[in-house]
Amino acid sequence: MVVEYLDLGANDRLLDVGCGTGWAVEHATQRCGVGFGVGVDLSGGMIEKARERRGEHANIDFQIADAENLPFDDDSFDGAMCTFSFHHYSSPLTALGEVLRVLRPGAPFFVLDNNRRSFFGIYSLWDLYFRWFEPGHVRYLTPPELTKMFNDARYRDVELVYKQDRLFHGKKVFGSAMIVKGLK
Ligand SMILES: C[S@@+](CC[C@H](N)C(=O)[O-])C[C@H]1O[C@@H](n2cnc3c(N)ncnc32)[C@H](O)[C@@H]1O
Repeated sequence: MVVEYLDLGANDRLLDVGCGTGWAVEHATQRCGVGFGVGVDLSGGMIEKARERRGEHANIDFQIADAENLPFDDDSFDGAMCTFSFHHYSSPLTALGEVLRVLRPGAPFFVLDNNRRSFFGIYSLWDLYFRWFEPGHVRYLTPPELTKMFNDARYRDVELVYKQDRLFHGKKVFGSAMIVKGLK
């Protein structure tokens, strides 16, 4: 969904922050016509898997990097995405600022993450649970909190473009997602 929202083409460069094993970068470049895709992740193990996926594709690159300190030049990407990774960042505002720096003027950043307010607040309970039991978990946000962060980081035209908070989502129970977009 996020790749479709990004609407990038053959001459564009995409950044995936917290890319995990890199499936979304592969999907964007090999099936959705994005010219070049770069994925970064803090975990060496994830990047190792992502590099295996890269295979022969010359238009994909994966690097170990912290979302809060990106190793790229200013204005070097035409779009950026972050899927289910934002709640791990100790300073999400810093990460938003770093992505803003590396985007070219006018380029979009989409953040997809769990919505703490979903389904009568059930994700607030998950949030507390994960804060206790998963060391890398920092905080699930609500749509107003994430939108405010984009504004505080000085993105333009910030909007909540998608919100899903049904009890069932496919075979998953308690599905929850939100997508917030902002432009540099
Ligand atoms: C739940 S996974 C999501 C992976 C992928 N985006 C997806 O949708 O499948 C979260 C990822 O965020 C990464 N991560 C956590 N903190 C990070 C940081 N500060 N900078 C970059 N990546 C980070 C983790 O290593 C992990 O691979």
